[in-house]
This record gives sequence, structure tokens and C-alpha cells, in this order.
Amino acid sequence: MSDKVEVCFPIRSHERMENGLGFLLPICWRLPPVQWYMGLHSVALCPQRQQERKGSDNKMEVSVKCNLIMEATPVTFAIVCWSFALLWRAGWKRPLSRTKTNPVVIQDLPFEEVSKGVPDEGKVQKQNDTDGVCVFKCLLNRDTECCRVGKESVLITLGYSSALLKFESHADLSSFSNTLQSCRNEKKESSVFSQRTEEASAVQYFQFYGCISQQQNMMQDFVRTATYHRAILQNHIDFRDKIVLDVGCGSGILSFFAVQAGARRVYAVEASSVAQYAEMLVKNNHLSDKIIVLPGKIEDISLPEAIDVIVSEPMGYMLFNERMLESYLHSKKWLKANGMMFPTFSDIHLAPFSDEQLYMEHYSRANFWHQQCFYGVNLSSLRGAAVDEYFRQPIVDTFDVRILMARTVKYTVNFMDAEEADLHRVEIPFVFQMTQSGLIHGLAFWFDVAFVGSVVTVWLSTAPTEPLTHWYQVRCLLHTPLFAKEGETLSGKVLFVANRRQSYDIHIVALVNQTGFRSGNILDLKNPFFRFA
Ligand SMILES: C[S@@+](CC[C@H](N)C(=O)[O-])C[C@H]1O[C@@H](n2cnc3c(N)ncnc32)[C@H](O)[C@@H]1O
Repeated sequence: MSDKVEVCFPIRSHERMENGLGFLLPICWRLPPVQWYMGLHSVALCPQRQQERKGSDNKMEVSVKCNLIMEATPVTFAIVCWSFALLWRAGWKRPLSRTKTNPVVIQDLPFEEVSKGVPDEGKVQKQNDTDGVCVFKCLLNRDTECCRVGKESVLITLGYSSALLKFESHADLSSFSNTLQSCRNEKKESSVFSQRTEEASAVQYFQFYGCISQQQNMMQDFVRTATYHRAILQNHIDFRDKIVLDVGCGSGILSFFAVQAGARRVYAVEASSVAQYAEMLVKNNHLSDKIIVLPGKIEDISLPEAIDVIVSEPMGYMLFNERMLESYLHSKKWLKANGMMFPTFSDIHLAPFSDEQLYMEHYSRANFWHQQCFYGVNLSSLRGAAVDEYFRQPIVDTFDVRILMARTVKYTVNFMDAEEADLHRVEIPFVFQMTQSGLIHGLAFWFDVAFVGSVVTVWLSTAPTEPLTHWYQVRCLLHTPLFAKEGETLSGKVLFVANRRQSYDIHIVALVNQTGFRSGNILDLKNPFFRFA
């Protein structure tokens, strides 16, 4: 992303007529627009909505569609004020009610008229775009001074000039400043997200979610999407007339559900480029007045108001993968004291399993490196490393529950109470009472989440006994299988240690108490083995 941002202020001619001075001064109305705009010293702009597009030169362009409220020389400014006062006294309030904004003045904004191109830094240029839109453009870079003024304005200093942009709503202002901020990388150093994430990991992660096909994949997980829909709609009283935050909105599907349940407004925050598609869906579904898509990370963006309900789908493989739960918890900084979280809590379940075939499969995969004459090359010195690497991979697939050798142990993460730091290191102690004798090859994991609403609690389960979801279940092998008899106990712990690759290192230690046999493993959740067919 470039460290420069081009800000454009397009002004459509019909808006000049509606909101400008045309109806105030019959004489000015007749003046050709060019003449009207030339040689002016002050300009007032009310940005309505911003668009963002990435130029071919990798420059981020931020366009702000503005209502031109006023642009005038001191003399015309005086005439306008005088006319306006007369009309106002005569009781004609139409201009203000139409624009919904008060005029603001940009002091001595210097601009040059140009036909095309990027303006010089520190200068504002006036252009006529192809569709007849009059555009004021300026380039901002990392050092450009910008600050918020009040609840709805931003002051930008360009050289010796300053532009005060007054937005129609706090939401529009937030959206603009968030984009500006992400373009200028202002929070890069300080963001909670960037502190805990390697740049390369974040880039790859958000590229993945930027693909429509990945969003489709999740949306087509019927169990997942239908359960969210049911949880939100059956608890519609928790959403009716409420302000909702959708953390990582993706396509915006949960935001639409919230609106269906009666939400007054939804802030849909999405850090990947799929935010632009969410915005398209919102527009095309005529919900721009209800759903405000805010591109950016939840850790970096700012919201104009406190939130009643947070919805999100932050669960990764084995619940914790992706570390998006932390972003979900982070978003609570916007939640009202009595606010709600959908989902509300999650249970992660674990149980020992026996699966000789799976264990042997891992060895066979590694046995490729056992060859002593692969096209004349001896590979065998890497066999040990290959075994280690394969055993570090958690296995994502499903299985018959009869392989489970004990009742599960459960660990709960309550999203209402938990803090981000609680997920940096998650320790799950276990004691399993064996329900059958045999070789324990590892531990199997899955999770459920609960949506605790005022009407009903809805569960989304990824258990092996339930219909399959795109999370499947996850199994972690022990380096050495452990033999245990029915009635004996297997105790130990699973320790999840967060890493900067948006994932976890999983440390497992296990002991058969009656025999003293021990085993364990360290696994890399970032690099799972997808075994399902
Ligand atoms: C599992 S998807 C869910 C998408 C959508 N809510 C749904 O249910 O279909 C998670 C989304 O959150 C986004 N995301 C992850 N971390 C984020 C963060 N810190 N800030 C904003 N968006 C984030 C991802 O880009 C991705 O689109």
C-alpha cells in the first residue's frame, strides 16, 4: 500500500443547483459554472460518502462526494449572506433542510484547474471528470496534518492552506478517517493487531478472506450459516432497534441477519478487500441507511457510537486458529455495559482416541524420505526431520466416535468475561477415565459455541456426533502411543501458546497414572494436514 493518499472532492453540477447558491441568487444562477468557480478564495464542501479504489500504480484513492455549499469571493460571500438572511426571514428553510449540514469554510484553499492527473502534494486541483463531475483533488502523505474537529469534521492542512471537511454524519466521518488512517498506516506501530501479527501472515490471511470463493465456502456451510440465522432471528428482541457491530463481516451476511431481526444500525467491519463486495451487497439490497461497512481492522477503526450487540464468526480450526477470537474480544471496547455477544461463549472438547491406521499413515508419508536412491540421491538423512514435521501437523478430518476412549473434558471460553490476553496462553488440564482398553494415539478436539439470547440459547456444534461443518474435527497425535486399560486414568495438559503467525503452538503431555507411561508432542496449528476426502 502506498504511503500517499489522493483525496478527491467531486461536486456534481445538479448538486450545485440543489445545495449551492443557484436558488438564492437569480443573477448567480445565470453565471456559467466555470466563471463562478474561477478566482474564488473560499470553498465549503460537505462530503457525503466516500469511495475507495486502488489505482494501477498501487495508490489508494479516496474519493469524497461532496455537496458544494458555498464558494465565493468576499463580495459574493457578502451578497449570499444577505440574500440568505432575507430568505430565512421570509421563512424559507428549504436549503438547510435539504442539505442537512451547515456550511463550513475552507480557508484560502488554493487550487489549479487541470484536466487529468495526480495533483502535486500540498496542492488542491480542480478537475472535470468524464461524467461531468467537478472534482477537487489533493494528495495526502504520511506527514500531512489531519485532525478531527468536533464530531463530524476533519481539518486537513495542505501547505499553507487548510480544508475543513464537514460530513453529513458521524458514521461518514468514521468511514473517511478509517480509510485515511489505514492508507497512511498511522496506527501500524501501535495497533494491537500488528503487534501480535507478523506482516507476512496478515497479508496472506486477508488475501485469503478477500476472495469471494472463500466467503462463499463459509456461507455454504449450511450448519454454520443457518444456525447463525436462527440464533439471531429467534432472539430478535435482542436486535430490535439496536446498534449492532459485525466483527469481520466478510460478505456482510451476519449484518443482513441483524437487520432482518430489526437492528436499527449495523457497523460491519472488515479488514480484507472483501469489504468492497459487502458494500456492493448492502447498496444492492437497499440497506445503505442501515448497514455501514467500515473497511479496516477492528483494532484500528473507530466507531461513532456504543454498541448493543456484537455479532461475529471468529472461530478457526480447533476454535483458536487464526487468533480472531482476540479481535472479537477486542471489539468489546465498543460494547455498552449491558451489551450482548453473539456467540456468547464457547466450549472446546477433547478426548483420547485410538486410530492405528492414522498413525501408520503419518509414518508412511515420512517414509518417502527413507529412500536411498531417489533419482540417484540418498534422501534418508531427512527421514527423521520428515517424521517430526508430519507429527507436528494437527489432522483436520472427521471420524467415527467409536475411536474415542473416554468421556470428553471440556474447557470454556466465556466471551463476555474473557480478555484478549487470556488467549495468549490457554492451559487445559485433563484427567480422562478410560472407557476401553487399547493404544491411545492422540487427542481429538472439537468445539461448540452458544448464542445466549433473551428468548433462547442456540448451539452451533462441530462435534463428531453432529452434522459435519467446514471446521471438521481436529486430532493431534502423540509421538509414541500409550497403552491404557479400561478404568485407568490418563492425565496431563494441553497448552496453547499463541504465535505471531495468527495461530498456536500446541504442547501436549500425557501420563497413564497407573503405569507411569508418558508421551507428548508439540504441534503447529498454523500448518494442519487436511485429511478429509
Ligand atoms: C470467518 S470469516 C466470517 C465472515 C462473515 N462474518 C461470515 O460469517 O460469513 C472472518 C472474517 O473476519 C475478517 N477479519 C479477521 N480478523 C479481522 C480483524 N481483526 N478486523 C476486521 N476483520 C477481520 C476476515 O477477513 C474474514 O472476512
